[in-house]
Amino acid sequence: MTPEHIATIKQYILQRVAGLDKALLSLGDPRNKDVLVFGCGMGNEILWSARHGARSALGIDLSSPRQEPLDALMAEEGFGNFSYAIHECNVHDLALDHPGQYDLIVSNGVFEHVSDLKGVLNAMRPLLRPGGRIAIYADGLWFSAIGGHLGKTNWEHLWMAPHEIKEQFPERWHAYINHLNRMTAVDFLQALRDVGAVVLQFNVRSDPYLRNAAPLMDAIRARQQVSPTDMSITSVGCEICFLEHL
Ligand SMILES: C[S@@+](CC[C@H](N)C(=O)[O-])C[C@H]1O[C@@H](n2cnc3c(N)ncnc32)[C@H](O)[C@@H]1O
Repeated sequence: MTPEHIATIKQYILQRVAGLDKALLSLGDPRNKDVLVFGCGMGNEILWSARHGARSALGIDLSSPRQEPLDALMAEEGFGNFSYAIHECNVHDLALDHPGQYDLIVSNGVFEHVSDLKGVLNAMRPLLRPGGRIAIYADGLWFSAIGGHLGKTNWEHLWMAPHEIKEQFPERWHAYINHLNRMTAVDFLQALRDVGAVVLQFNVRSDPYLRNAAPLMDAIRARQQVSPTDMSITSVGCEICFLEHL
């Protein structure tokens, strides 16, 4: 990686970490815990865990992020001796290899991308120790204003035709068609219910762009059936565990 590239990603990590206290801290506090970060991207939640006094942090992701920018930030902030790593692996393999090793699993901005919600939640279960908890924050749900992850805030993914989206957002097209699960808050709660999760907290955040929705409804409804309830919820956050962890 070039120094410029490393600097850009360091900035990105710092910007993402800045939002984590609001998104995750009330759902899961890393202090004195062995933390697993599900869908760690560039490692933002690892730095966040270290800042909050975690014992260790392992980040897993399906893609293979380069660790140099995180390593540089960890060293700069005095966490050179902190026990951390990023692994490219899926949670199912990790569950086989490392059962019962984590006190806290955190996930930010990932569950709106996961295609097999129940499979992933079930795989997390054996990774936890007694007393273990899972803190999940999923933002930009599909029917919210930013749900298409196009970098826009006005439900373009619901009212534009697919060919227009491909033309206007070519760099986002692949993620748009392949990496968004279209789940609603109700779908997420249903998945928690289906796997038998114990729900300790469940929050929804309403869409800050909601007042822009009314003039778009005709154009949206011309393309698809959509519930205003789903459009009005942009994120879900929860703290869960399973009966054996209580
Ligand atoms: C929007 S990024 C969020 C990254 C980071 N958590 C953050 O807040 O910046 C979503 C990440 O989830 C990862 N991801 C999606 N599905 C996953 C899965 N089933 N297992 C592990 N990682 C996954 C993607 O590779 C991507 O890095």
